[in-house]
Amino acid sequence: MTTTFASPSSVQIFDQTASAVTAGLTSDPKWLPSWLFYDAAGSRLFDQITHLPEYYVTRTERAILAEHAAEMISQAAKGSALRLVELGAGSADKTRLLLAAAVDRQDTVFYEPVDVSASALVEAQIRIEREIPGVLVCPRVMDYTKGLELDPCLPGENRLALYIGSSIGNFEPKEAKRLLESARAALDPGDCLLLGVDLVKDERTLLDAYDDASGVTAAFNRNVLIRLNRELDADFDLNAFEHCASWNPAESRMEMHLQSRVDQTVWLAALDQRVSFNAGETIHTENSYKYRPGQAEALLAESGFYPETTWTDERGWFAVCMGRAR
Ligand code: TRP
Repeated sequence: MTTTFASPSSVQIFDQTASAVTAGLTSDPKWLPSWLFYDAAGSRLFDQITHLPEYYVTRTERAILAEHAAEMISQAAKGSALRLVELGAGSADKTRLLLAAAVDRQDTVFYEPVDVSASALVEAQIRIEREIPGVLVCPRVMDYTKGLELDPCLPGENRLALYIGSSIGNFEPKEAKRLLESARAALDPGDCLLLGVDLVKDERTLLDAYDDASGVTAAFNRNVLIRLNRELDADFDLNAFEHCASWNPAESRMEMHLQSRVDQTVWLAALDQRVSFNAGETIHTENSYKYRPGQAEALLAESGFYPETTWTDERGWFAVCMGRAR
């Protein structure tokens, strides 16, 4: 078993940030890549978002997993031993429900969390191995959006890949399909994928979830500018940009923007670049696609899986879909 901790160097990270920011802020309309959200402060703010009363997403998915974990695990295992791999594990909080259900069925469960953050993985490993005896954590530091490489299973083992948290919703439909296809390519026929998607619901609920009363989501969005000030020696005035969340019904997505309140010019010293904003102009920072019933199943089917079962909450706000690799 190989555990690699080859993290990119700070020079590579700087180059990556510099080229993404240059591309995004010289485009019309302007945009920034959403991975910029997740520095240490951003990850803490996102964790706060998941606890907000308005942010139903995490809570709703957790309730579905809590109710059906045993059934999900036994359906995926089909009588074999199961090994769990999770894409974009982060802190792996909701995963415990599935891991605990898997340990109930078999003595030892291999759990391979895949994430770009080595530190998040090590923290998750320590916590999970302490809290759920029987789970053996094998962290994989990898950018799963660039393809997935997994060791072969042991004879008689099946894999269950988890892609929960509705992260699929942060990808354009074409990219989402490519991502599931690459997950499929890393699996064997008969292995399963559990996919969590957020569903279309009334606009008020969506708007509140992405623009909470206490302003945590606004702080999370603006944190991107703090990051550019620090890492690219920029002079964004945080008060001159407003957090905007809107529902785009034609694209079936929530859009997050940072809107310039005034005509202004920002200087990014490390890029030797000036960027001008008109009053009202926005930087598009994130999309969160909301699926209609049946759409996640169709996406699984297009990506090499048989959609087997969908679990949802009684309000029909969130869906967890099991697909089996063809
Ligand atoms: N993946 C989360 C989602 O789409 C990320 C998120 C939550 C987010 N709130 C946000 C991203 C606000 C940008 C701004 O639900």
